Amino acid sequence: MHEQLSEKEKNPLASLDQWEDDLLERYPETGYNPNGKAKSAFRNYDAPPRDTVRDFYQLNHRYQTLDFVLEKEAEYQPGKRGTKPIWQAMEFLNTLVDDSDPDTEMTQIEHLLQTSEAIRKDGHPRWFILTGLMHDLGKVLCLYGEPQWAVVGDTFPVGCAFSEKIILPDFFSENPDREKPELSTEYGIYEPGCGLDKVHMSWGHDEYMYRISKDYLPQEALYMIRYHSFYAAHREGAYTHLMNEQDKKMFQWVRAFNPYDLYSKSDSPPKVAELKPYYEDLIAEFFPPEVAW
Ligand SMILES: [Fe+2]
Ligand SMILES: [Fe+2]
Repeated sequence: MHEQLSEKEKNPLASLDQWEDDLLERYPETGYNPNGKAKSAFRNYDAPPRDTVRDFYQLNHRYQTLDFVLEKEAEYQPGKRGTKPIWQAMEFLNTLVDDSDPDTEMTQIEHLLQTSEAIRKDGHPRWFILTGLMHDLGKVLCLYGEPQWAVVGDTFPVGCAFSEKIILPDFFSENPDREKPELSTEYGIYEPGCGLDKVHMSWGHDEYMYRISKDYLPQEALYMIRYHSFYAAHREGAYTHLMNEQDKKMFQWVRAFNPYDLYSKSDSPPKVAELKPYYEDLIAEFFPPEVAW
């Protein structure tokens, strides 16, 4: 559908991290209290996204349709790309090279370990630490040839009206689902309070990794993995009309996870080789040696 676009137009970000850097400007650390106060958290409206990030969201909001999501959900059923141990998947993800400055950017493994080490330092349970380690592993989608807009970016439900609380909502005017009245009402194809499990989310690393890990991790961990980029909900309070009681309860865990994802980045890079044995043990506690991808 976008053969006519150049490589730069297809993938406007210099690196996947550019999206996360932008999140940091949108949600600066000051004033954020993850303990149930997310709605009143500080959002910096004075930090408009840089041009590459805008270009990225324009593509994301245009192409993430219900049909696209259904197609990807089928295409990436676990097992379709064979099996692989978790640590090997981390090393695979680390082969991702983009145009960013290698001196200032952390490797993918370093970001994962920084997140998990920050969680570990705060004395959280082992499943929580493991969640930090794994939350972005779904970015291997990039290595399977998916464009940036189908790997990272804020996520949101498809199949119903797009909330004004999603970043740069005006770009949804280019989404063809807007032309379909049955997909454009507040509830669209869903029932009030039906629960997010019944809701199709825009396709990306969150949903993909949820599907890979859903038989192995506790519910709280799965919520963190599946919804950590759903900023319209966990930071802006949108889409409660689709949530059930369990979702509302579990979102406190999504909010508890968020600061570790966003604000653990400035610390010094973790020593990967030194930490590997600890994490190999932790992985083995929850996952089989071979995991279906
Ligand atoms: Fe992520
Ligand atoms: Fe992350």
